[in-house]
Amino acid sequence: MVGFRTDFVLTYPFNPLPKSADSSPNIAKTVRSKDKQMTIGIGILGCGRISRHHFSAAQALAPRAKVVAACDVDARLLNERCDQFDVARRVSAVEELARCAEVDVVVVVTPPHVRLAVAQPLLEAGKHLLVEKPFTESMAEAHAIVDLAARLGRQVAVNQNYRWYDAIIHTRGLIQSGRIGAPTYAVIHDCVWRDEVSGWRRETTRLALAVMGIHWLDRLRWLLMDEPVAVSSLTGMRPTLASQGENETTTIVEFRNGALATLTHSWSSQTRGRANFQQFDGPQGSLVLSEDAEVTLYSGEEEQRWSFARDFTASFGASLRLLLDAVESGQEAPHSARDNLMTMALLEACYLSAAERRRVEIAPVEGQVW
Ligand SMILES: NC(=O)c1ccc[n+]([C@@H]2O[C@H](COP(=O)([O-])OP(=O)(O)OC[C@H]3O[C@@H](n4cnc5c(N)ncnc54)[C@H](O)[C@@H]3O)[C@@H](O)[C@H]2O)c1
Repeated sequence: MVGFRTDFVLTYPFNPLPKSADSSPNIAKTVRSKDKQMTIGIGILGCGRISRHHFSAAQALAPRAKVVAACDVDARLLNERCDQFDVARRVSAVEELARCAEVDVVVVVTPPHVRLAVAQPLLEAGKHLLVEKPFTESMAEAHAIVDLAARLGRQVAVNQNYRWYDAIIHTRGLIQSGRIGAPTYAVIHDCVWRDEVSGWRRETTRLALAVMGIHWLDRLRWLLMDEPVAVSSLTGMRPTLASQGENETTTIVEFRNGALATLTHSWSSQTRGRANFQQFDGPQGSLVLSEDAEVTLYSGEEEQRWSFARDFTASFGASLRLLLDAVESGQEAPHSARDNLMTMALLEACYLSAAERRRVEIAPVEGQVW
């Protein structure tokens, strides 16, 4: 990679998922009662555009869980959502939500710049959290939330819901069962026209990679089942889309086991539609995904194809269900905030690489293993 220096190392704690409950002893194992039959009270913080998927995903988990309260600084949106989903308790400040004794778990659906400010009072009030992606806007803030949750024995998970589409669960299963061998090469190409740049999306200086690319960066970790060690990224900001942040990006990720991955991700493609293609190559075969709905396995002479529904709301429900499992069992969730530190480190490395036009390394902490 001509033009990239390699003298910078970005470090992050290399946190494997715990092997047993004993490795995360401080996680609270109960909600409000030891009675597992008790309905878990859900609070939703932020009643904007994407929140309706969280409301309906939580509703679908009844009687295990019930949305008992919602909060938004915007009274119109708050009432609209609460009327739509029949939620009685409506509050306008996070501190009020934190005081709601009937709320056990809060789903944080605010814009990314409002994370630590809302997570802190909620965690201190004993709530467990499902936080929307991107987890935070900085590594320091991400660490602060992870450390606070660990100290208070609360669970925090991140809604990396792109892990839970049926096509992805199937693909991961094929990779885990060795159908293509250990992946050595991956390509994700996602170029779209996103004329949705309004509100905080118009203001943020971190757009394509942080808001949508984070799903693809996390996907690379999730399907390659390895950790990134270096990133080379370039970004562009084209006037076709009125944004303060990047809307065209190209990234190369190097993994610890030598695998290479490329992500091309744009928000300003003049196709005005969606162009999504994903490929994972291993020594025994290749997997090709289209639109997270169709999976094709190529192996020798063999070619097998599967089609799946891409259920967006159900993927939100899976994130919440897995968090509830974690709260009840005391085991760390697979999409825990601690796990997400690695996805965040990858994102940070991309922005640093793009800003300084060089290759950035990501170093694991010595002695810890995947
Ligand atoms: N997982 C996914 O597939 C997916 C898809 C879209 C958006 N998101 C994420 O969801 C989050 C929200 O996105 P959105 O499109 O719904 O944004 P939005 O702007 O439509 O809604 C955010 C809401 O939060 C409220 N809010 C802001 N600060 C608050 C505070 N301190 N207290 C109470 N309410 C507050 C706002 O009034 C607004 O109603 C973002 O992090 C975004 O990246 C995730």
